Order: sequence, then C-alpha cells, then structure tokens
Amino acid sequence: MRGITVRGCGISVPDKVVTNDDLSATLDTNDAWISERTGIKERRVGGITSQMAIEAGKRALEDAGLEPSDIDIVLLATTTPDALVPGTSATVQAGIGVPGGAFDVNAACSGFVYGLVTAAGLAAVGSGRILLIGADALSRITDWDDRTMAVLVGDGAGAVVVEPVEGPGGLLSWNMGADGSLRHLLKCDHGGYLFMDGKEVFRKAVRVVVESAERAMADAGLRATDIDLLVPHQANLRIIQAACQRLGIPEERTSVVIDRYGNTSSASIPLALEDALRNGKVPDGATLLLTGFGGGMTWASAVLRWRA
Ligand code: UT7
Repeated sequence: MRGITVRGCGISVPDKVVTNDDLSATLDTNDAWISERTGIKERRVGGITSQMAIEAGKRALEDAGLEPSDIDIVLLATTTPDALVPGTSATVQAGIGVPGGAFDVNAACSGFVYGLVTAAGLAAVGSGRILLIGADALSRITDWDDRTMAVLVGDGAGAVVVEPVEGPGGLLSWNMGADGSLRHLLKCDHGGYLFMDGKEVFRKAVRVVVESAERAMADAGLRATDIDLLVPHQANLRIIQAACQRLGIPEERTSVVIDRYGNTSSASIPLALEDALRNGKVPDGATLLLTGFGGGMTWASAVLRWRA
C-alpha cells in the first residue's frame, strides 16, 4: 500500500491591495457592510493564474528542500485558467522546469481538495512526487461595477508537495461530492462575468460542508475533538463560523485568512494552510480537516495528518 505525506508549502499573492474603503469609493457599498456580512477587510488583485502558481510552486519546492527535477507531475486546481487551451498547468510546468506530466483540475472552490485526493490516487498507482497547486485570479472574471461580486473576490495561489510513502500515509480519509443541478447558482459563461445567487449558495454551502466534513471524520474514525485544525474554504466568515458551530470545532482551532485575501477559490485552502504553518499552528503529526465547496456545486473534505 502506498499513501502520501504532504511536505513543503508556498504561496503567492499579487502586490496590489484593495481595501473595503477603496471599493467604497467607486461602488455603493461600505466597510461596515462588507466586514459584517463577509469578514473581508482587503483582497489582492491583478494576478495572473500561471504566474502566481509558478511562484507558489517554486516556494513550496524551496520549503520542502526539493528541486523541480524531484517532481513527477504538476497538478493545478484552477477555475480561472490563463486560456482554454493549453491547460494552465502546462505553462506552470515549463515555468518551474518540472520534467513530468501536467494537468488542470476544475472543481471551483473545492479544487484543492479534489486535487489532493487525485494526487493520492496517482501516488497509489506508482507516481513520484506531485506538485499540487491551487491558483485563481477571480478578479479577471469579475465585473468591478457589480457590488454583489466585487466585494467578495481576490487573487492568489498556494502549493504543496505531495510525496508517496510506503504504508497508509497521512491522508486518513476523504469525501467528494457534486450536484450539477445547482450549477446555475454560481457561474461564469465564456467571456462573461461571475454570477452568484449568494443567499442560496450560503444556505447550501453550510449544509454540504458540514455533511461532507462529518463523513470524512467518520471515515477516519475521528470526532471533532480529534481535529487539531480546521482549514476551510474562505468564502464568508459567517459560513466558517456556522460550520464550526455545527461541527463542534471551536473557532480558535480554525485557520482564517479571508480578512486579508477575500474569496480566492482554489487558492483559499492552501493560503489558509500556509498561514497556519507559518504561525506554528501545525506541528508534525497534527490532524487537519480540509473542507471546501463552490461552483458546480461541488464539495470535498479530507482528513490529513501533517507529515505522517
Ligand atoms: O466560494 C464559493 C461560494 N460562495 C459563497 O459561499 C458565498 C455565499 N454567500 C454569501 O456569502 C452571502 O450571501 C453574501 C455575502 C454574498 C451576501 O450576504 P447576504 O447577507 O446574503 O446579503 P443579501 O444578498 O441578502 O443582501 C442584503 C442587502 C440587500 O439590500 P436589501 O434588499 O436588504 O435592501 C442587498 O442589496 O445588502 C445589499 N447589498 C449590499 N450592500 C452594500 C448587497 N451587496 C452589497 C454590498 N454593499 N456589496
């Protein structure tokens, strides 16, 4: 049996910071509304998916003490590819100088967890190390005159190295789901802008995240008290708080970065993971619960023992 361990983590966000007050200058909105309803204070914009992914990927390699030649596959989770063809992972592969394969996964904001499970499957059938990156530039598909979306989104990327190990490894359990009959709730047509039925997505998100996370914990034979850190998708602080409450995980044991980055889709979970790592909240052996949801709708959870 071959499992995985995750080692090394790196992120990249654009330099340009846009605060709630900046948005209030051009939109009929204000800092109080945005902060209270979403928890967002500022976001980074102006990113290019491939460039952020390359930078995050290089930093993850450096953090793991590895060279590009140590990687077999680049797996990029993104919902904002640079182009329809080729896959943005190809640009990332060439940009980092990885010798092996490369492909994109699009499961919207669940993409990073979908990618992690996919990486574990590749490891199980004999692949070498996989560079897993979540990167999105939602600012590029946002109508900056539409206050309902503009206040929510941001750009960023986060990467980890997924390494095959002999034995069960650190991915203790996983759960993935989708309901394509709800695809109209959150969408962006070719050449168009992001649209979201926020209220409906909010309602569904809390339900599916809690169900998916509970299933993953049950499959790992764990309870909420066994989870050292919840690393959730960062769409809305109120969704994170509601999920914590229903799961029985205290907010102190949750990584939150939405205040600084807004909703960065596929990047939000690795951004939250890196922040927790940097702040010493993830000792070796810590049990993490990663959970995401988004357009599709899709959802996914994974229980991961850090550096197992
Ligand atoms: O990552 C993928 C998944 N995405 C999500 O999970 C997001 C889920 N949804 C949400 O986070 C929330 O639904 C939003 C943050 C998008 C909206 O919060 P809400 O509490 O559901 O607000 P609402 O849409 O019900 O709007 C409340 C009021 C409305 O005015 P009236 O009808 O009460 O007069 C809106 O027109 O707030 C108004 N409004 C705003 N006001 C100031 C809507 N957007 C804004 C704004 N600034 N940006």
